[in-house]
Amino acid sequence: MILRNLIYYFLLYKTCLAVVKDNFRECEQTSFCRRLRNLKPDQSRYILNLNSLQVSENSVEAELLNRNENVRFKLILSALAGNIFRVYADEISPIHARYRVQGVLDGEPQVSKIEILKRDKNEVIVQSGNNKAILKAEPFQIEFFTSENLVAVVNGRGLFNIEHLRRKSNIEVKEGEENKEEQSEDSGAWEENFKSHHDSKPRGPEGVAMDITFPGAMRIYGLPEHADKLALRTTGPGGIDPYRLYNLDVFEYILDSTMALYGAVPVVYAHSATNTVGAFWLNAAETWVDIQNSKDQNVVSSFVNLVSGQTKENKVDVHFMSESGVVDLFILMGPSPKDCVKQYMSLTGVAPLPQYFTLGYHQSRWNYITEDDVTTVVENFDEYDLPLDTMWLDIEYTDGKKYFTWDPIKFAHPDQMLKNISSTGRHLVVIIDPHVKRESGYFLHDDALANDYYVKTKDGNVYEGWCWPGSSSYPDFFDPKVSDYYKSLYSKLRYDNVDNDIMIWNDMNEPSVFNGPEITMPKDCLHYEGWEHRHLHNLYGFAYSAITYKGLLMRNPNKRPFILTRSHFAGSQRYAAVWTGDNDAKWEHLAASYPMCLSEALGGISFCGADVGGFFNNPDIELLQRWYQAGIWLPFFRAHAHIDTGRREPYLFPEDERHRIRNALLMRYAHLPLWYTLFYEHERFGEPVIRPLFYVFPKEVEVIDIENQIVIGDSVMAHVISESGASTANVYLPGGPLTYWYDLNTLKKYNGNGWMSLSVNLDFIPVFYKGGKIISRKDRPRRASTLTHRDPFTLYVALDNNKSAKGTLFIDDNESFEYQKGKYLYIQFEFKNNELKSSLIDATDYETLEWIEKVIILGAPAGVKKAVLNSNSLNFMELEVHYIDDVLIIRRPGVSVREPFTIKLL
Ligand code: NOJ
Repeated sequence: MILRNLIYYFLLYKTCLAVVKDNFRECEQTSFCRRLRNLKPDQSRYILNLNSLQVSENSVEAELLNRNENVRFKLILSALAGNIFRVYADEISPIHARYRVQGVLDGEPQVSKIEILKRDKNEVIVQSGNNKAILKAEPFQIEFFTSENLVAVVNGRGLFNIEHLRRKSNIEVKEGEENKEEQSEDSGAWEENFKSHHDSKPRGPEGVAMDITFPGAMRIYGLPEHADKLALRTTGPGGIDPYRLYNLDVFEYILDSTMALYGAVPVVYAHSATNTVGAFWLNAAETWVDIQNSKDQNVVSSFVNLVSGQTKENKVDVHFMSESGVVDLFILMGPSPKDCVKQYMSLTGVAPLPQYFTLGYHQSRWNYITEDDVTTVVENFDEYDLPLDTMWLDIEYTDGKKYFTWDPIKFAHPDQMLKNISSTGRHLVVIIDPHVKRESGYFLHDDALANDYYVKTKDGNVYEGWCWPGSSSYPDFFDPKVSDYYKSLYSKLRYDNVDNDIMIWNDMNEPSVFNGPEITMPKDCLHYEGWEHRHLHNLYGFAYSAITYKGLLMRNPNKRPFILTRSHFAGSQRYAAVWTGDNDAKWEHLAASYPMCLSEALGGISFCGADVGGFFNNPDIELLQRWYQAGIWLPFFRAHAHIDTGRREPYLFPEDERHRIRNALLMRYAHLPLWYTLFYEHERFGEPVIRPLFYVFPKEVEVIDIENQIVIGDSVMAHVISESGASTANVYLPGGPLTYWYDLNTLKKYNGNGWMSLSVNLDFIPVFYKGGKIISRKDRPRRASTLTHRDPFTLYVALDNNKSAKGTLFIDDNESFEYQKGKYLYIQFEFKNNELKSSLIDATDYETLEWIEKVIILGAPAGVKKAVLNSNSLNFMELEVHYIDDVLIIRRPGVSVREPFTIKLL
């Protein structure tokens, strides 16, 4: 069996065969999923004993009884700050404590006051701000209201369940068979397999499940990571398998699939034109989620329904099913998509501002094979005048896949290589994977054995699996002593003679185990304090990247760390960026990159990208160009490719193609100030950096299924072209006739009148500036972002139908934490009444040489003869203006960006 898996894995990697679905379980083959899914609706066995109700300032608590089995649970409903309810349920006297997720919430959530409006033995009505929750006793259920509208019902279908030991369930479970496939391959009866490290009593089935109904909802989004539609599809017995959340290394993953991938973020947002409400299911065990959407049952048919948005018929049902853990459910009361996402971010935290260079272009492949190779690639970028910020090294740079070492021949002078890279303003990222080669003499393995750092088998031996280095073991990142040790390792990747920190790529951290069940670690492996892997599987990659982040901070407390992680969970945004893993050089995969990253962004992880060009196989040159043109509008922008693919660095292509790719790169670089400002605002306000149309235009029903367009902040909209030979694109312009969209390629103005066919050629994909926004750009071509720091800005003022516009710009030193001490400028630009005005949003200061070189007004008022600038240092100064159609160009205001100013059009 082990051998078969190994051969299979290597064959797949080498020959690029498609995913073998049979290697991954379906719900039916997963005993807990089968059991929980087979519960019949409307037969809830749970009763809330409201005689036991205890009320505190922020919560109510009562006993919950499983009437069939006479087992007692406690249920706590608490109100949290910012319009959130939390529903928590656990056994009152468990034989074994259940696993509670650690470290994912960004601190203990702040609570909010409640008031009891009514209380008797049948129900309790809890008010918190504008929201209300009604707890019903029999059957147990909780209804949630925003103002007076019912927006969510917990256990409305009666599928809530907490399995526990010593039960006589009304669901037939044959002991000895029930969990077989969830064990390591050579496992025996379930009693054996549930033994924990510390105690030998069997744990038994301990699944938890909850259904949530969202009345009125037209669509539901979320649950990254899946290579699926942005709006989640209906699943169900006999139909599509539930969305699976179980971090796995899946080869050549297929599209339009609910199969598990590398990351798991258990949050959903149910949306209609009048209301949005979310649910966050905090559980790190294997989880399956069934969705039933009334749209798929032909309920939403009439046009009247579509325009009014919310009707009685519309609804979405969600059913979360996890293998173990407690019920810890957050209801995000909205009422808009923006509110919901911000509520979710308030729980799991925001991404800290990245270094500026990380938003530039990243060049990777598996592998750049020598130091010379790396240097030559960089030189070629320079020779062909192509911007580049970061070179990446995949696993082959190491000495025999031993991380924190360098190949003694091919990478014998890493400090010199780093120096070369630095001298051109570039950076280096190297891969560090969690598996450790079991080779005596390798310091990491020796230390791990000597100090008991590894994950154990169920019998308490060091667990051995197979990964890139061959026989490997896996540090237990949940153990504080391992975390302390591992953090310190990153200092090895620092060279005193080079002032440039190598940044880190954490891969294979699901964890990937080539000979493990479903290419991962057996569930009965044991972690710190004896917890089985099954309870915390989805947290392994999260814990690893958190340690990396802290390690990089330890190495240099003054530079903001950059980490790319493949495996992720809710909250990973606090530590790392993500990418969509091993995609394929196919048009459909290019298309999938937008919904996949949009879904991550809704799940809190905005810093997302896809391998530009596709990981497996060789893209044709048209696909590659289109991929660059689309990839520049995703937050993380990296080209990467499999070891067996041909080289495809942009300078290798003929002049026309190279130019198109260069133009795309320049477009990315021109917008770096916008990306950087958006990441700052993400950290400060909690909004995603990229947004789906329904998020920006929540009342517009027509946009609810659009996933091939993306809004960057709220000012730029891009449309991916994902087919060969396209001469037109069917673009949706939202907002209605009074909203303006300026085509970035022609600067022509369009109204937000919905669907439009736009002519395209190979030179561009459709991209628009929204009327009413001011976008700060740096238009001077440079070879790296680090060389643009003194360059001047060009302000693009895209006027709305009132001839006004607004925008913001954030500036700091681009790399340190000084901005947290007030060393930054946060500027607002506003255009109205024919005057452009800049002002500081915060009373801070930051010395900078950056200045305003040009102002370009789109949809400008006619008849302007001149412009007059007024600022403290420049007094009144007349500026030259000229028109190109209705675009007005104001040349060389010359004012420092630091200084408040006005420019009046006369
Ligand atoms: C798997 C990653 O997804 C891929 O990007 C990388 O090149 C290989 N591992 C080799 O490290």
